Amino acid sequence: MNQTCAVKRYTFGTPFPTHAVVRSIPCETGEVQEMLVRDEGRILQLLLDAEDIVFGLGEQVRGLNKRGWKYISNNTDDPNHTEGKHSLYGSHNFLMIDGIEKIGLFIDTPGKVIFDIGYSMSEQLRIEIPDRNYDLYVITGPSSEAVVHTFRALIGRSYIPPRWAFGYGQSRWSYETADEVREVVREHRERGIPLDMVYLDIDYMDDYKDFTIDSEKFPDFPSFVQEMKEQQVHLVPIIDAGIKKAEGTYSVYDEGMEKGYFCKDAEGKPFEVAVWPGRSYLPDFFREDVRTWFGDHYRGLLDMGIDGFWNDMNEPAIFYSDKRLKEVFAKIEEYKKQNLDVNSFFEFQASVSGLANSPEDYRSLRHDTEAGRIGHESVHNLYGALMTKAAADGFRRARPDTRTLMFSRSSYIGSHRDAGIWQGDNMSWWSHLKMNVQMTASLNMCGFLYTGADAGGFGDDASPDLLLRWLGFAVFTPLLRNHSVRGSRRQEIWRMVRTEECRQILSLRYAFLPYIYSEYMKAVFEDGLLFRPLAFAYPDDARARHVEDQLLFGEGLMLAPVVEQNAWGRYVYLPEDMKLLRMRSACDYDEEILQKGDHWVPAMEHEILVFIRPDRIVPFGSGEARSTEQVSTEELRLLSYIKTKAAYDLYTDDGVKNVQGPEDGIIIHYEQSV
Ligand code: GLC
Repeated sequence: MNQTCAVKRYTFGTPFPTHAVVRSIPCETGEVQEMLVRDEGRILQLLLDAEDIVFGLGEQVRGLNKRGWKYISNNTDDPNHTEGKHSLYGSHNFLMIDGIEKIGLFIDTPGKVIFDIGYSMSEQLRIEIPDRNYDLYVITGPSSEAVVHTFRALIGRSYIPPRWAFGYGQSRWSYETADEVREVVREHRERGIPLDMVYLDIDYMDDYKDFTIDSEKFPDFPSFVQEMKEQQVHLVPIIDAGIKKAEGTYSVYDEGMEKGYFCKDAEGKPFEVAVWPGRSYLPDFFREDVRTWFGDHYRGLLDMGIDGFWNDMNEPAIFYSDKRLKEVFAKIEEYKKQNLDVNSFFEFQASVSGLANSPEDYRSLRHDTEAGRIGHESVHNLYGALMTKAAADGFRRARPDTRTLMFSRSSYIGSHRDAGIWQGDNMSWWSHLKMNVQMTASLNMCGFLYTGADAGGFGDDASPDLLLRWLGFAVFTPLLRNHSVRGSRRQEIWRMVRTEECRQILSLRYAFLPYIYSEYMKAVFEDGLLFRPLAFAYPDDARARHVEDQLLFGEGLMLAPVVEQNAWGRYVYLPEDMKLLRMRSACDYDEEILQKGDHWVPAMEHEILVFIRPDRIVPFGSGEARSTEQVSTEELRLLSYIKTKAAYDLYTDDGVKNVQGPEDGIIIHYEQSV
């Protein structure tokens, strides 16, 4: 990307250091020309043209174009994230106005930020930063791609997972024993369904205590990890933010308490909350010594052969605090005496459901930082990112040369350097499949390249056609995991009635893997995007600019997933002539050249639509691999659409050692011409 952009930084108040930006940008002393600044920086305002698109905001509800809604950066554990919500698990305060001018804005603050993007007034972007302490970065440039690229260079290189983490992972909250995990692996292997990972949810722990293993359900864990590895399966355990209160029987708790490592209340006492294990404490990740302590605890599992983790409940999620629980119990005594009518019944209901993630509890929390003890609210959105940093730094100390898989639920910009994220507790809903498509591109803009949603949906019951369609998109997302909540319908591929069709779709992931990996690594090395809205590549095509449900994928492909139930196809807009591949498996697909314009393209539930851009080559494997270890870059076929000539440089490496740039890997060069 050689188009140059201008970057300016303006500082308001005394921002808390987030370390999101890794380049030093001098602070401007003059006015912010692009914005109207009100109330000493509390409000930033900008007029939007009718044609302007607003991209960005990473993990948020709604579409690619964020206009018409209000988004609040306030990391929240909300599994019921319908389109009426304003906050999800991460805060990614970067947005880009794509109009005649291209303006990127990054509001760097770990506190709350409210983005009213044409919600109150259609032609107005209004950003409110209630505590007024932040750095504002303004990037202007010739194209959206250049602005995003410049932003990405500002925030530093994205995380690189091991190559096996690009395989298929099976997960379920309720794999209770090693034998259940063995069954999962056996079913995949016997039926020829590819598999690289099985995730261990909280059930593997002893009483939901981080860094412990239930040795009755998972006896001789190191041998079990090894046994799985022999079958080319990596076990990926979960680690939660809360540490169980268990005096005298749990060294992590005892040590944390003794050394004062937990978040405090206003009186300086450790603040007790409840999560999975019941009464627990939250490590104060704002302290470096606490991060080191927590990060070093992963070593125990690494020593047992584990090489990947997922960090959870780090918004932080709080079921209840002791104080609030007592208040609610007292209220219940009152309610017992009443006739619960239209007013009091709902009040009663709200007081119980309002126990979880209560703003009052967040207000009570304190952190010890270099700047002294501070209230949680002003730094809330950084908590999860600092938990991830604790883990990532721990891995750097324990295995400096090797990649470790890590992804988190909560995040802030900056954690994209340390880990990936998954898109939280979605539902088995078609609308969440569509959101997955849109969110993935928005997350890429904010640096999160290793991402994906729970395929099939986490909550509620998946139908076989939803799982099929979801896999049809998820086979392209770097993080590809089928995960579901306990109690919901089982959605492992082999338990679903359309096993064979799912298996065939999954084989496409392994066939595309050399290309997916190569494009991922190039996006990392070049601060680029793996998934891009069409507007980025076809800025002068008014029709393409507003397409919400098609994405460019890497250099050569356009994806048009079907996200609607019982739709046997869909309309697709082609900004230029493309070759359509209607794919059922790696060896079963039709090809057709389609001309620029609108097309109705049939796509049965077991078919995916992949479009090759003109003069592009996409190396493609046989799809026979049952794990990433079996994927080879030798003898790849070339999928291509050649009008004149094309070339492609495929990047590959050993997938395990840390790499800094393309020079640390191997490039295989391909060329074709008419
Ligand atoms: C949270 C996670 C989910 C996990 C569950 C139990 O809801 O988001 O993925 O299964 O906790 O650990």
